[in-house]
Order: sequence, then structure tokens, then C-alpha cells
Amino acid sequence: MTIHREKNPHPKPEKKERLTNAQINQTQDNVEESIRPHSFDEYIGQQDLKDVLSIVIEAAKTRKEPMDHLLLYGPPGLGKTTISLILASEMGVNCKITAAPALERPRDITGLLVNLKPGDILFIDEIHRLNRLTEELLYPAMEDYRLEITIGKGQATRTRSIPLPKFTLVGATTKVGALTSPLRDRFGLIQRLKFYEPEELALIIQRTAKLLNTSITESGSLEIGRRSRGTPRIANRLLRRVRDYIQVKKFDTITQELAADALDIYQVDPQGLDWTDRLILDTMITQFDGGPVGLEAIAAATGEDAKTIEEVYEPYLLQIGYVNRTPRGRVVTTAAYQHLGKTGEEQLSIFNDQ
Ligand code: ADE
Repeated sequence: MTIHREKNPHPKPEKKERLTNAQINQTQDNVEESIRPHSFDEYIGQQDLKDVLSIVIEAAKTRKEPMDHLLLYGPPGLGKTTISLILASEMGVNCKITAAPALERPRDITGLLVNLKPGDILFIDEIHRLNRLTEELLYPAMEDYRLEITIGKGQATRTRSIPLPKFTLVGATTKVGALTSPLRDRFGLIQRLKFYEPEELALIIQRTAKLLNTSITESGSLEIGRRSRGTPRIANRLLRRVRDYIQVKKFDTITQELAADALDIYQVDPQGLDWTDRLILDTMITQFDGGPVGLEAIAAATGEDAKTIEEVYEPYLLQIGYVNRTPRGRVVTTAAYQHLGKTGEEQLSIFNDQ
């Protein structure tokens, strides 16, 4: 299986220059690439999804047809790209990876489609962000494997229909509700990725530690797993931070105590909340009396981007029951007050001082 990444945004570094952010991301990508599981046997967690996909793969292979188009949704970092790559590997085809923001002009998507080989998988990340023209080109491509292009303007407008190889579109999104229904309806399979249990994350951490040649105890992996917000990407990132810590402190094995010490330093608390999570909860309590409060108001008061709060921070706070969504806005729950050691008496100090 070959992985094609469209529009490499990471040019080769020039000698002796400091790494740019893009290059640091490339390094991160390479690390992520090297620890990715390559088959469903190696892939830990998401058992329901694996069961569904195993049947779909076997049926498609028996019929010698490409798999139905698949839409994967769920919070970031849960493995949507990895699953797409595994599907390609199990089907014995190529996977072309792109993301909606890279498909600005009609020729971006047409270029990709006409270069597909029969059976290939086209993975489009953040598919809810496709523009209308690109999305409309995808409809006949998905439904009839045809590219319908319009040439010329005004009275001279003509349409051409170009046959495409049969392919599978795998779309990924953190916001399934933001997809238009014509696009959503063209996916034969719509599957949600769930947050992982701490025990599953512990197994992922043990697997990654082995690949990184790092020794870790079972309870050490569980300590990191519990603090990883149900997300493998975060688990693997925290593992690398804890590995740095034991290396500097000259220990050779990650134990539960060392993992906890290291993650305390990185301000990741025993529930996996980081500084921003605590800022969001604290702001909701002290400035908005625990809510109900709107997303934009939380964003303005914390200085965080509203979309980031909604797509990155809030899903986990909802999952662990620290925040609830009501028709009148977000509210902080008693569990969150307890976790932060707050009583509910806290308000803006200007009110308390009077
Ligand atoms: N690395 C990241 N996610 C993984 C998973 N689900 N299983 C195994 N290793 C992983």
C-alpha cells in the first residue's frame, strides 16, 4: 500500500536553519507514522467499528468491488486516518489522503479523482469544510463514478461527463451535523468513533512504548491512560513527555509514580484535564455562576477560539459529565465543582468585595 499525501506543506529544511513549525509538524507526523497500527489485529479499541468494517471488507473483497463510501465521525485524535489506512491495506489498495481546506479550487478535487486507480481509497479529512463547488463535483463521482465538468460560460456552456474508476471515499469529520444532507446521504456507511477506555489506552501506550524502546510498568501505562482524555493521540504524546522526564531524571522505567510526577509538571491532572480545560470550567464558574452560558461568551472570556472549545475541549468535558448542554447554554455540573475543589460560592471578586 502506498500513502499519497496531497500538497506536501512541509518543504525540506534548509541546512543549518532552525526548524519551522511546518517542519516540526513533519517530524511529529513521522513519529505518528512510525507508531501507527497497520492492521485491525494491531489496532486496539473501537471493537464495534472493527466488527462492522471486517464484514464490509470481506463482502467487498468477495464481490471484487470497492467498499461502500464511509463517513467516520467523532472527536479529533481517535484514529480516523489510521482506520482509513488500515482499510486500504486490508483491501490491498492505495490510500490518498487530503483535507477539505486543501481542496479550494475545482481542479484540486478533479486532479485527485482522475488519478485514482480502481478500488483506491480517497480520504478527505474535515469533510464538513468542503466548499459548495467541490462538494457538488463529489455527488456524481460518489454515486455514478463520473466527473461532470462544465466548460465555457453563458450560452457556450457545455458539460462533459468523464468516467472515473470505482473508488471508495472515506470522509472524516468532527462535526457530522455540519454536513449537508445530500453529501451525508451518499455515504453507505456512517460510523462514530468513541472515546477509549483508560485500560485500552494503557494497552496502546504499552505498544507504543515497545516501539520507542521505552520500559514501562502496567500501572505506569494506566496512569498515563487515565490522563489521556480517552484519546490515543494524546496518550502517545503524554508517553513521549513522560519518557523525556525519566530520561532527564535518570530512571530507566516509567512507573505509576514517575508518570504521575511528570504529568503533574505538565499540568495534566489525574482526570486528564489540562490548563485550558480548567480555565474554561473556572471561567464558567467564576464569571457566569456555573451557567447557562453561550459558547461565544466562554470564548470571549477565556480568549480561546470558539471552534476549538467546541470541537477539542468540550466533547471530553461532556463525556466525563463536567459540562452539560442545555437549550439556554452550557452549564457546569456538580462533579466539575468537586473536581476543582469549588463550593459554588465563587463569583467575580468585584461582587464579593462589595
Ligand atoms: N496508536 C494509536 N492508536 C492506536 C490504536 N487504536 N491501537 C494501537 N496503536 C495505536
